[in-house]
Amino acid sequence: MKAMAYRGPYKVRVEEKPEPRIEHPNDAIIRVTSAGICGSDLHLLHGMMPDTRIGHTFGHEIVGVVEEVGPSVRSLSPGDRVMVPFHISCGSCFFCTRGLFTNCHNVNPNATAVGAIYGYSHTTGGYDGGQAELVRVPFADVGPSVIPDWLSDRDALMLTDAFSTGYFGAQLGEIRELDTVVVFGAGPVGLAAARSAWFFGAGRVIVIDHLDYRLEKARTFAHAETMHLAEHRDIVLALKRATGYLGADVVIDAVGAEADGDVLLHVAAKFKLQGGSPIAANWAIDSVRKGGHVSLIGAYGPVVTSVKLGDAVNKGLSIRGNQAPVKRQWPRLLEHIQAGHVSPGELLTHSFRLDDIAEAYHVFSSKLDDCIKPVITFGGD
Ligand SMILES: NC(=O)c1ccc[n+]([C@@H]2O[C@H](COP(=O)([O-])OP(=O)(O)OC[C@H]3O[C@@H](n4cnc5c(N)ncnc54)[C@H](O)[C@@H]3O)[C@@H](O)[C@H]2O)c1
Ligand SMILES: [Zn+2]
Ligand SMILES: [Zn+2]
Repeated sequence: MKAMAYRGPYKVRVEEKPEPRIEHPNDAIIRVTSAGICGSDLHLLHGMMPDTRIGHTFGHEIVGVVEEVGPSVRSLSPGDRVMVPFHISCGSCFFCTRGLFTNCHNVNPNATAVGAIYGYSHTTGGYDGGQAELVRVPFADVGPSVIPDWLSDRDALMLTDAFSTGYFGAQLGEIRELDTVVVFGAGPVGLAAARSAWFFGAGRVIVIDHLDYRLEKARTFAHAETMHLAEHRDIVLALKRATGYLGADVVIDAVGAEADGDVLLHVAAKFKLQGGSPIAANWAIDSVRKGGHVSLIGAYGPVVTSVKLGDAVNKGLSIRGNQAPVKRQWPRLLEHIQAGHVSPGELLTHSFRLDDIAEAYHVFSSKLDDCIKPVITFGGD
């Protein structure tokens, strides 16, 4: 089969790989019909995540059709149209039974923190991902769901990660009615967080980035106010001014490890001297009000120094984060989509064939052609 393959930092290509097989009775093989490229894949592309091996196939946003199921699979049958959450979860360990699906204890022998993620290096289990014609889905009765007839592939794809993750970011912020919510990062995840903040009762939503076209999307898609990083010498001070000098009630970091804004921290992160630049997280800590909530959904490596921990403690902040257990968000998000409150697929601006995946990565990574998010499509569509 054809599959995306990592060839080292900034290099991906399409290769022939053996077709995946059923390896366990609860496995399914999915024929992929669309696969997203996530901002998290860019950290892999840029060589930021440890143990990303040559030949690894990325892709943790998967929509497809069931090709084959193992003998113990009960909830799926060949031919079903399914969406697959980005995390692999056993469904029965201490953590899964508490809804902490991304912290599953049974799927990743290497980790004490995160569980397993498709196509996300050996630090998350080494499972090949879905930017390929076929993908093996372990614990097939736990992860994938049959897509309701009324839900489009594009909306379903956004539920497998980016939109659900943004919604989760808003949820972690424990937004109270009329709260002012600030979102750092106007990528797909930040835009989803900003849009979702209204569902939780926000009274005001402000999105920050340095890309005009993404801020424009924040205004039209997320109905948010926007602030351009380049227009403010000190973004924290600007946010303080905008919030009566108290700070925002809730701040969501949807940027993560590769944040711009401090050259030294950025370079230290690029050279893997630490697990990412903490600049967005520090701005979140600085711009939230005392006693406020910080939600960290941007991805970081295990150890990040120069985080403003003392300020966070002395301000009495509540800080929460996780890889999003997206399946937990699906019931409520399906209600919102069916009611016409949101169409997450609107964030998919570019479509590429698998053969052109190197170009897709380049366009998304370099933020070319006003790209918000690309999707890889397969087959005859
Ligand atoms: N927690 C999870 O489960 C989860 C799931 C998906 C993605 N993520 C992470 O969320 C983050 C965002 O993902 P995405 O797909 O939206 O990525 P993206 O790269 O498309 O978007 C990131 C945005 O942040 C902006 N940015 C850079 N530095 C900034 C700064 N200092 N302040 C404000 N904005 C800044 C960029 O211009 C860009 O628009 C990534 O770190 C990704 O790994 C986490
Ligand atoms: Zn992702
Ligand atoms: Zn588990």
